[in-house]
Amino acid sequence: MIRKAKIRDIKQIQGLINYFAKMDLMLPRSLNELYEHLRDFWVVEEKNKIVGCAALHLSWDKLAEIKSLAVIKNRQRRGIGTMLVNTCLEEARELGAKEVFVLTYKPEFFKKFGFRKIKHSFLPHKIWAECIKCPKFPNCQEIAMVRRL
Ligand SMILES: CC(C)(COP(=O)(O)OP(=O)(O)OC[C@H]1O[C@@H](n2cnc3c(N)ncnc32)[C@H](O)[C@@H]1OP(=O)(O)O)[C@@H](O)C(=O)NCCC(=O)NCCS
Repeated sequence: MIRKAKIRDIKQIQGLINYFAKMDLMLPRSLNELYEHLRDFWVVEEKNKIVGCAALHLSWDKLAEIKSLAVIKNRQRRGIGTMLVNTCLEEARELGAKEVFVLTYKPEFFKKFGFRKIKHSFLPHKIWAECIKCPKFPNCQEIAMVRRL
């Protein structure tokens, strides 16, 4: 079942994200960030357990970002990631966004949804305010991709 996240989900969402962050597959998220951005999050729940999450964050005029996409290891490759991405794209459309971008180490996964690679410099300057806080800045290997809606 896919639904918007609730406060009670936060610790599980953090556990899921930070598990992959330790493997350098995504960026870690603090509890503070997760509380502040909770309303961006979608979760997939199975038997009272959060098995996947993704956030849709509105960044700029008609531009949204999919962030923090993760599916628990033993539930991968069963369509949960696809459901999360499609739900975020649909939400972006409903909000009136015209483009959605991702910063990712998994370009092949996002290519399936019609995302294409762009130069980081095509993204608005505002995005870099967050990058500066990242432990990997300025040696970021994430690939920027965008999809028109
Ligand atoms: C990337 C991730 C979210 C995909 O979730 P998932 O539930 O396994 O994805 P799905 O089952 O919906 O897969 C959809 C398609 O993408 C493919 N796919 C899945 N993971 C992939 C990957 N890492 N690279 C390329 N293709 C991938 C699947 O084979 C499937 O293709 P098909 O429809 O042709 O069979 C999941 O592997 C994950 O959480 N990885 C660790 C964290 C991470 O890297 N997050 C992304 C940060 S941007």
